Amino acid sequence: MAHEGFIRRLGYPPAAIAMAPGRVNIIGEHTDYNAGLCLPMALTQATAAAASPREDDELRIWSLDIDRHASIALSDVAPGKPRGWSGYVAGTLWALREAGFPVGGMEIVIASEVPVGAGLSSSAAIEGAVAVAATALFGLGLLDDDAGRRVLALACRRAENEIVGAPTGGLDQTASLLARAGHALRLDFRDDSVAHVPFDLAGHEILVIDTRAHHSLADGQYGKRRTECEEAARLLGVESLREVSPAEVEALTDPVLRRRARHVVSENARVEAAVAALERHDLHELGLLMTASHHSLRVDYEVSCAELDVACTAALSVGALGARMTGGGFGGSAIALIETAARVATEAAVRRAFAQHGFGEPNLFVATPGPGARVLA
Ligand code: GLA
Repeated sequence: MAHEGFIRRLGYPPAAIAMAPGRVNIIGEHTDYNAGLCLPMALTQATAAAASPREDDELRIWSLDIDRHASIALSDVAPGKPRGWSGYVAGTLWALREAGFPVGGMEIVIASEVPVGAGLSSSAAIEGAVAVAATALFGLGLLDDDAGRRVLALACRRAENEIVGAPTGGLDQTASLLARAGHALRLDFRDDSVAHVPFDLAGHEILVIDTRAHHSLADGQYGKRRTECEEAARLLGVESLREVSPAEVEALTDPVLRRRARHVVSENARVEAAVAALERHDLHELGLLMTASHHSLRVDYEVSCAELDVACTAALSVGALGARMTGGGFGGSAIALIETAARVATEAAVRRAFAQHGFGEPNLFVATPGPGARVLA
């Protein structure tokens, strides 16, 4: 679609087409900005960027999904500029240039399969596709190994943090750039290490339940959680909550900070346990850890919402091995680990529960661990 869209708008074929996937995080939520552990996998749903270089500094960007066009000179990109969707695109190229890479003007046409606002990292997929397109067009050589891909992920994250102004961690961008088909990624945000963990579901699958709920308080609440974690670490005299043991958390006298820290510390332990469970093909244990993660996010971290809770409860009520919210929370998507044979019953249970609660129709699909960002042509 991006390819045809490019030809329609510019009258000639693009020099490169790049793709970057959305993600689900299997476990390890709100840990990335606490120097912690995450275990995401890429979706097969991806965003495509069809692109050609320009002689000058100008970026001309089209989004086929929202039918919008934007132009800006690369030298004019700055925090908060451009605003809105084109900030993800321009910000990524800005960040690559800031890092010293010879990136020039481009024509870029974007088309995405990743549902927007579903907590499945549609923005990281745009950033990743643009970063990969720039690598291909300007010969940056950053796609050959995980180290190069980390450089791209960092540029994508800077776009999000500094140009768009969203204070996210690096989970989404790293997952989109470094994932491998058939694998989950164990990401350690303390030492920046990455391990590719085979994700063999043998007769089971990950059902994504996009609740289609979006709560507007989300943005401010995300930043608030970050600040609370920083404050908890400061009070405990450590650099990050990664340095803290479960017993030390209980020394925090502020009950809110104590619960926030308890989530982060326990979630890191659950990621380690989940990796071990995957390694010994113990999907029952993985499921239990996922459900425990949701409980912690709901009770201690307070980032769930009614739709996410109902989705998880409904899936568990018909035998899911585990279920949890995925991503930032306050709406977006939940995931359930189910037996393949239970898919129809699980989908029916979730739809029934949503109808009973008067929620809108959820969007349900099975997630397959897909490849990371790549050049298509
Ligand atoms: C969002 C952010 C990520 C991460 C998750 C929560 O997806 O973009 O950096 O913090 O929330 O785990």
